[in-house]
Amino acid sequence: KIVPVIMAGGKGTRLWPLSRAAAPKQFIQFIGDKTLFQETLQRVSDPALYEAPVVLTNEEFRFLVAEQARELDIGLAAILLEPVARNTAAAVAAAATLVSKRFDQDTIMHVLGSDYEIVADDTYFDCVRIAAATAAEGKLVTFGIQPTEPATGYGYIEGGEALTTGARVVARFIEKPPLAKAEEMLAAGSFYWNSGMFMFSVSCLLDELRTHAPETIKAAGEAVANAKTDLDFTRLDRSAFSAAPNISIDYAIMEKTSNAAVVPSPFKWSDLGSWDSVWKSGSRDEHGNVAAANTTVVNTKNSLIMTHGVHLAVQGMDDIAVIASEDAVYVGRLQDSQDVGSIVKMLAAAP
Ligand code: GDD
Ligand code: MG
Repeated sequence: KIVPVIMAGGKGTRLWPLSRAAAPKQFIQFIGDKTLFQETLQRVSDPALYEAPVVLTNEEFRFLVAEQARELDIGLAAILLEPVARNTAAAVAAAATLVSKRFDQDTIMHVLGSDYEIVADDTYFDCVRIAAATAAEGKLVTFGIQPTEPATGYGYIEGGEALTTGARVVARFIEKPPLAKAEEMLAAGSFYWNSGMFMFSVSCLLDELRTHAPETIKAAGEAVANAKTDLDFTRLDRSAFSAAPNISIDYAIMEKTSNAAVVPSPFKWSDLGSWDSVWKSGSRDEHGNVAAANTTVVNTKNSLIMTHGVHLAVQGMDDIAVIASEDAVYVGRLQDSQDVGSIVKMLAAAP
């Protein structure tokens, strides 16, 4: 069986004001009745395929994680708490160390982000099975999404020679390219987007970490060895974990390894990184609006209207996002969605 490892410690500032420091993107409800974290948990809840999941997060979010799992009645194997944010390489290294203590070295880990949406249909689970078979052959496996625009916020994967499992060798992995490079890769047609999910055997990942990220695995290994467990929570040792470099698994391992594979993945995937992408992936009415409950929308087209607080009425507007939380309202053009993070920075800097 596969051990799921869910990364749920990121901040998600472009979705302000619904995504907040106290409750970022992965823990809030967008249009549906579950949070992205809960949807992620559900995707790995089939006991025929998966062990109980390990969740990686920090002190601040520990109750959100525990509560949202309990709401779905999903038992967690562990909630690993990072004492300082050291990005995903260190977090995954800690999880791999923990898994290597509890299971044998051939165990396959499925590492998942918790901040994108996936339609978990048969197509998706076919890809998961191909990935698991490829990981069992000693590869670090990624899921390759067909790109639709020259987005600069994703990893790009060039597909190489075909493997017998149905996956392909990764010729190159390029994390967050500049726009010109992204445009080039989109035009070339041989690149996928990295979905943000990975699959590998514990031994394979530990080998790669020792080769490409020795400080990370050393720090994470010691942080697990000296961790303290209290109820559901395992607290990594602060002084050990602090020594880990602040780097994502994409830069630390995926760009460097020559041992990666990609599963061409036709399932529906959406990063939901900005209001624009929430609008695109939402179910639009005949006027092109995505409007949540508790809103009234008149003479308005192609807009996103969401509220977690007051009733919102919008009239005579096109192509905009109107987002209300309990204590803040955002109004802006959907095309400016990528810049919402700069407002959050201004607010953080304000006295
Ligand atoms: N536990 C923990 N600790 N989780 C973290 C940390 C951390 O320090 N930092 C980020 N995360 C979580 C986030 O909550 C998210 O679920 C996931 O790890 C990925 O982190 P992001 O910071 O959102 O990464 P990204 O979106 O910029 O890029 C990654 O995802 C893209 C697809 O969505 C990369 O893997 C890209 O290559 C990929 O295309
Ligand atoms: Mg992300």
